[in-house]
Amino acid sequence: MNTKAWKLLFKLRNNIPLEGDVALAKQELEALVDDEVQPVGLEALHEWVARGWILPKDAELHREGTVGFVCVGDMYDLSRLFWRVSFCEQIFGVVPDTETARSTLGSLPPTLLRYEQLDTGELVFMVVPFNAIAEWSDVAARRADSPREVQVWLDHLCDALVSKRCSALPSSLRPIITAKQTTGHLFHGLHVYKAKFFPRLARAFLNLCGGVTVLDPFAGSGTALTEASVMGMSAIGVDIDPLSVAIAQAKASLLEAPAEYLERIGEVQQRLAGDDKSQPSLFAIAESSERYALTPAFLRSRIPEPTRREVEADVAEILSTLYDMPPRSPLHIALSDALSRKFKFRFLGLGYGRFSLSILPRRVRTMYLDNLRSMANSIAAWLWLRQHTGVRPAPMAAIQGDARQIPLSSESVDSVVTSPPYMPASSGRENYLKSKAYAMTVLGLIAPDTIDALEAEQIGSIQRTEQIRDLPPEIVEVIEWMQRDPTRCVKAAATASYFVDIRKSLREIQRVLKPGGKCAYVVARRHVFYRYQSREVVRVVESAELTAELARQAGLEVVDCIHVELQKQNTVARPRSLDAYYETVILLRKG
Ligand SMILES: C[S@@+](CC[C@H](N)C(=O)[O-])C[C@H]1O[C@@H](n2cnc3c(N)ncnc32)[C@H](O)[C@@H]1O
Repeated sequence: MNTKAWKLLFKLRNNIPLEGDVALAKQELEALVDDEVQPVGLEALHEWVARGWILPKDAELHREGTVGFVCVGDMYDLSRLFWRVSFCEQIFGVVPDTETARSTLGSLPPTLLRYEQLDTGELVFMVVPFNAIAEWSDVAARRADSPREVQVWLDHLCDALVSKRCSALPSSLRPIITAKQTTGHLFHGLHVYKAKFFPRLARAFLNLCGGVTVLDPFAGSGTALTEASVMGMSAIGVDIDPLSVAIAQAKASLLEAPAEYLERIGEVQQRLAGDDKSQPSLFAIAESSERYALTPAFLRSRIPEPTRREVEADVAEILSTLYDMPPRSPLHIALSDALSRKFKFRFLGLGYGRFSLSILPRRVRTMYLDNLRSMANSIAAWLWLRQHTGVRPAPMAAIQGDARQIPLSSESVDSVVTSPPYMPASSGRENYLKSKAYAMTVLGLIAPDTIDALEAEQIGSIQRTEQIRDLPPEIVEVIEWMQRDPTRCVKAAATASYFVDIRKSLREIQRVLKPGGKCAYVVARRHVFYRYQSREVVRVVESAELTAELARQAGLEVVDCIHVELQKQNTVARPRSLDAYYETVILLRKG
């Protein structure tokens, strides 16, 4: 073995329940080190444990006993690996003791690094990558009673992992490490959002695409933008829905000026507790009460009168406490989130816009105060990350616009990571926006009851009725089949429009990408048509294959189709909801 070689061992996170993610982790690492990596089992880690290095938790075995991956090479950019890897919680390394090695180790945050010099003239080290500590910070934020406690826990955790004093992680810190759900870090959990990326996957897609400027033309709540920004890629997002844009912008504001919002939260908490007399009186607000009677008409008849009054009073009180803040500030978004949780819509998926509505008994006011507390804890976690890792987010912006006409000049971005809406034929797809109408009215994003007009603009909307226009024969065949089926004909025209729109978005991506630029276009792998009553499968449409064909038509090269199994968040929601569910990352390249 070459003694001059650098040997790295990437230990995978324990909470990777899906084997597809392990495969993706390998692909990501290979893209990052520009070389092959080999899977390793427990014995590779035992060596480190035997030498007194600690693991956060006993390693779990993934496919075929894999606990991580190794690579051996002349030299690696440790800083890049630290900032970028998505699925690893520790990087162990043995490197020759050279000036270069010392300087690259010196570029890593000392709080997350342990290293020693061996008699053999080598340096050994372990570093906790940024994403692992960011994900753990989410658990700390969720569990801690105060912002201060979040930071104390993170201090203890890092101390235990990198100091030589501990031989095992103290049991008080284990819940942080062992949590299964770690998706709310970096303000990803600011607002409920249907069909958002798992942050870790968005990060992996960004790594597969590379580049320094990234676009998400269906930005939604800004998951890919946020991940890109903390990875140092400048990120721009476009979305047709103003609430999505507002959520993404609020995340950007929190990343940029966390301390300011921590202060603001304190003020608003005081005002809501009635300790601050400087805000306008509730009497003054009541005088213009119609300003706050914002319940959209289509909802009024569905909400019992006392509930409606209570919600409107809570909204009025909260908005009045925010009187001196810019509209759509993160503190407004916390109200939108409370409203979106209070009223839960479930569309029946038949194509007629019918929905069932459930109303949580908790008051909006209580939910809002909870949101403020958790926002304060998330800010504390972010402040800690800034201080201890030196993370400085690259510029991130979200603008309202149309992916069929991206408001950017040609050849202006290095990469695109995005996920368009689902096919309108998907059950429950119709009327995404209707479920957001209340929050959007309250935030002043739309005039009451203009939601249907806005919905009609959305790709995937059931209201869109374009004709089939030179679509690939496989798609035409699906649409004609739907037209003939009495229960599905209502969605046939919308499905044709959907594919025409998707191709327009792909043409635009082709236009704005620089030559050689890559795009990860993430869609459902297949669409299953089933009989509603019996749940018997009637037809399976390989929607990712159809989309890949549209990408070719749009002048993009299809480099790879990676199928990623996703964990269902809600397995009781719908018929066939227990079936394994895959999304496909269509990896595209502009020639
Ligand atoms: C699957 S979601 C994206 C979720 C996002 N990846 C995230 O993590 O939050 C699809 C998004 O496409 C947006 N959309 C629909 N039609 C659009 C259009 N014509 N132009 C831009 N965005 C559109 C919707 O508003 C929605 O936010």
